[in-house]
Amino acid sequence: MGMSTLPQIYDARVADGTLRPDPAQHAVLPRLEDLRHWLETTDARPKGLLGGLFRKPPAPPKGLYLWGGVGRGKSMLMDLFTKNTAITAKRRVHFHAFMQEIHHGMHAARKTGVDDALAPVAAAVAKDLRLLAFDEMQITDITDAMIVGRLFQMLMDAGVVIVTTSNRPPEDLYKNGLNRALFLPFIDFLKQRMEIHHLESPNDYRQHRLEGAQVYFSPADAAAGAAIATMWDDLTGGGKGAPVKLVVNGRDLVLEQVQNGVARASFWDLCGRPNGAADFLAIAEAVRVLILENIPRLSAANYNEAKRFVTLVDALYEAKVRLIASAADIPERLYMEGTGAFEFERTASRLREMQGADWGKE
Ligand SMILES: Nc1ncnc2c1ncn2[C@@H]1O[C@H](COP(=O)(O)OP(=O)(O)O)[C@@H](O)[C@H]1O
Ligand SMILES: [Mg+2]
Repeated sequence: MGMSTLPQIYDARVADGTLRPDPAQHAVLPRLEDLRHWLETTDARPKGLLGGLFRKPPAPPKGLYLWGGVGRGKSMLMDLFTKNTAITAKRRVHFHAFMQEIHHGMHAARKTGVDDALAPVAAAVAKDLRLLAFDEMQITDITDAMIVGRLFQMLMDAGVVIVTTSNRPPEDLYKNGLNRALFLPFIDFLKQRMEIHHLESPNDYRQHRLEGAQVYFSPADAAAGAAIATMWDDLTGGGKGAPVKLVVNGRDLVLEQVQNGVARASFWDLCGRPNGAADFLAIAEAVRVLILENIPRLSAANYNEAKRFVTLVDALYEAKVRLIASAADIPERLYMEGTGAFEFERTASRLREMQGADWGKE
């Protein structure tokens, strides 16, 4: 059992200055504490044949669907909860990464010729698992939309408690999606089986954290790398990040390191490959902060890379994505000769503007 309750842990973080006191966040804690208490004290899976025969496991409580605007502290609250729930049968995973795992599992299951490829995959996930915490649930892909309902049902029926964060209320999930009518029963299901809580904090803490912070580092030396690593930890709460696959015009585009709406990539990862406007728009749509490391000085021989970089910055700019970058030089000196060098001035100016304290997605 945990030593202190979640409200006590939260209050201690406020007292030591790690967190600012936020009544809207505090209001979520009793619900999470109930779940924690239940998970820590209830033997939901009686071991042994007799236990299984004579004692039906107690029905788990409703999970929590926590939604609200960006930077409100949803991921922070979920992490506080999962870290401080003293059971081992728990998993915290980014929703995208999880769905990709499910699709891979189903692909493998189909090869064995099973009728329902989802059932064995869900069973394998639920085995020895009591708590599943999803960060950033969003449904943009029809293949996810068509299986997520049955997946949740199977997991919950297997006794798994689900906690999830999202930027949208359930009724806005998969909004305007293809064949959305087939998805609507899942929305009802969520409302029945999970407690829906709107985190109505007025504060965007992510924006606060970046306010006035240096976000463009040149040269891209060890000090820049260290500063960026610290920012990554601060924005994501620490961790390695996970790959996220975006489907663009039927092709897969993989962002290798994503966590908590923050993606981290090198210049060459994004601009050294034949990515185009559609790819960069998809990236800008998918993330709130992009950390782009090691932007080099570009020459006439790098026309393609320079052109892609211009397109990337335009996409980020339009979508108001926060850019944190390390570069060989100041924006104005990144591409001084070569086709389009004159137009690059606009890109440099945008890079300047995006360093502004109030720049960023809401
Ligand atoms: N009450 C708070 N005081 C200070 N920082 C906070 C507070 N709540 C959240 N943060 C920080 O603000 C950033 C954004 O919070 P996060 O949980 O990632 O938001 P969300 O998941 O809602 O987008 C994180 O770095 C987080 O640690
Ligand atoms: Mg989050």
